[in-house]
Amino acid sequence: MVPYQQLGVKELEEVYDGLMAQYKEFQAKNLKLDMSRGKPDAHQLGFADAMLDTVSSAAGAISQSGVDCRNYGCLDGLPEVKQMMADMLEVTPDEIIVGGNSSLNLMFDAVSRAMILGVYGSDKPWCKEPVIKFLCPVPGYDRHFAITQHFGIQMVNIDMTPDGPDMDQVEDCVNNDPAVKGIWCVPKYSNPTGAVYSKETVERFSRLRPAARDFRIFWDNAYCVHRIYDEDVPLTNLFELLKKNGKADMLFLFGSTSKISYAGGGLAAMAGSRNNIELTKKQLSIQTIGYDKISQLMHARYFKNFDGIKAHMQLHADAVRPKFQLVDRILTQELDGLEIGRWTKPMGGYFISFDTLENCAKRTVSLCKEAGVVMTPAGASFPYGIDPYDRNIRIAPTFPGIEELELAARLFCLCVKLAAVEYYLTVSV
Ligand SMILES: Cc1ncc(COP(=O)(O)O)c(C=O)c1O
Repeated sequence: MVPYQQLGVKELEEVYDGLMAQYKEFQAKNLKLDMSRGKPDAHQLGFADAMLDTVSSAAGAISQSGVDCRNYGCLDGLPEVKQMMADMLEVTPDEIIVGGNSSLNLMFDAVSRAMILGVYGSDKPWCKEPVIKFLCPVPGYDRHFAITQHFGIQMVNIDMTPDGPDMDQVEDCVNNDPAVKGIWCVPKYSNPTGAVYSKETVERFSRLRPAARDFRIFWDNAYCVHRIYDEDVPLTNLFELLKKNGKADMLFLFGSTSKISYAGGGLAAMAGSRNNIELTKKQLSIQTIGYDKISQLMHARYFKNFDGIKAHMQLHADAVRPKFQLVDRILTQELDGLEIGRWTKPMGGYFISFDTLENCAKRTVSLCKEAGVVMTPAGASFPYGIDPYDRNIRIAPTFPGIEELELAARLFCLCVKLAAVEYYLTVSV
């Protein structure tokens, strides 16, 4: 295929007419498709349905560890569940709190407590500082950025590379600016690029010398077991490295079973140094007497241990792999050689990150919408919703059925082409 950039105005106009005719055919289908949110589909959710049968009046509600899960107590989680989640996040049971069903909630609360009270080692609450900044690797997870925006924390874009955040930029900010109190990280199968932080990146994180003594790395390992193919890309253990360097307090780890068991009824965990966890437990004890132990009991009985989780993830990998492969095949068929887009080929996680030509993402998403396909809004993967190049679009292939996904991906490619031709026609005037 000839790159669009090499076409003259007349050729571009002809291409445009052809594409528009196809687009109108799509519009006539009255599609209602959604590639916007990284959700498991109903089939995936069904993999864990036997979990619901593990708790009944006959089976009782006393855990293996002897806890009556119907009653108050166990603020930081059932011992067997703490062990399972600790193994998943590569920490020890005394370094973890299993709380609620949403890790995003735990992250929100962690930022909230830091603002109001400070973190372990703070001189004062973060809200008493004149300015607070968080580093935001971009493109990144929109809901992380929504939390920091909500608390009025200034967000600083850091470029993502295939090896993780650009560490020159990170070191420059963290080591020199005391207003930088935190960084959002999704270190494995990142949202949305799928990048796994390299060993060198993780090692550089472990050697940070923050100007703020209460700086925290928010290490959201949401996709730690979410490989798509047989090969799992290993992630270097940052917590271990920080411990060796005497800096374990610098890290808050998060994870959940939202995309393992149920997205709406899983288990979430926060982990970190004993200093951090002890302080957090003390603060949490004011907020709650304990989280939902019936859900914890179901997870413990169904998965049994971390090996059970890993075995279960094979089902998810087998379910989502064909969808990722389909989208990649269609993008390649439709766009290869046109030089109007590039995309990631993730080995795990829930997303493909797509870059259009500069200035074309918003238009592409709006063309999709007008033909019945909802995409994540362009810019959503950047702080304040502002993509400085207007080129990034997050594709979430897991939720639609395979036939719907094929239609949605073809329409998406058509919209990428239309937006690119429109752009070239505008700049050539
Ligand atoms: C990176 C990341 N962290 C957290 C979450 C949400 O996790 P939870 O369901 O545990 O709140 C998501 C969901 O898409 C995510 O992509």
